[in-house]
Amino acid sequence: MEIDVFTLFPPAFAWFEGQRHVANAIASGLRLGYVNYRDHTPLSSGQVDDTPFGGGAGMVLRVDVVEAALQARYGRDPVKLRTERRVIALTPGGRVLDDALVDELAGEPALTLLSGRYEGFDERVLEHLATDRVSIGRYVLAGGELAAMVLCDAVLRKLPGALGHEESAVEESFSRALDGAPEYPHYTRPAEYRGWTVPGVLLSGHHARIRDWRLEQSRRRAAGEPG
Ligand code: ADE
Repeated sequence: MEIDVFTLFPPAFAWFEGQRHVANAIASGLRLGYVNYRDHTPLSSGQVDDTPFGGGAGMVLRVDVVEAALQARYGRDPVKLRTERRVIALTPGGRVLDDALVDELAGEPALTLLSGRYEGFDERVLEHLATDRVSIGRYVLAGGELAAMVLCDAVLRKLPGALGHEESAVEESFSRALDGAPEYPHYTRPAEYRGWTVPGVLLSGHHARIRDWRLEQSRRRAAGEPG
């Protein structure tokens, strides 16, 4: 898989790339690249944003700047690029990222992520240059970099080789294996701590009963029961 992140702050991703599952995914063939809008702006003195028409606070990332960066990276008309790869603008009002969307994106051969800053994108970026608008939740961040990292993190975990055990991303919260329900509780040693005990079934060694217990716990969590 190939992911290009368009951002004004490529250094923000240094920590992310150091994470083990990200490093594993890169070692297993993921190509993760960054494009700084500022390196390709057609405007003088590195300008990338402008004040909003109609007035109002903040600055808006310009459509000509985003187009120039896409054109420079892919060498073709960004409007046509949309037929070849998903171009995802990270924006608070987009489709909220969930496990189904993460699965869908993990199945793509290539993704382009557009991070915004300040007041966000000129609307024409979303209308004409992006294929998707994705939000990581209904709140506003100072920029799309954290949102891009969240999306990448969730997608990369699904790629073969990213996690230590192939199983670990299969049966986890919100996965199909659990019918979209939250995951069941986990416990480890010590079996008793300050009088807090571990459910006996987990210590029984009885695999079928453990499985039933876990599915029941997951179902109860989905129904909003405590625990
Ligand atoms: N940019 C700013 N806030 C965001 C959010 N909640 N999701 C995605 N991108 C964003």
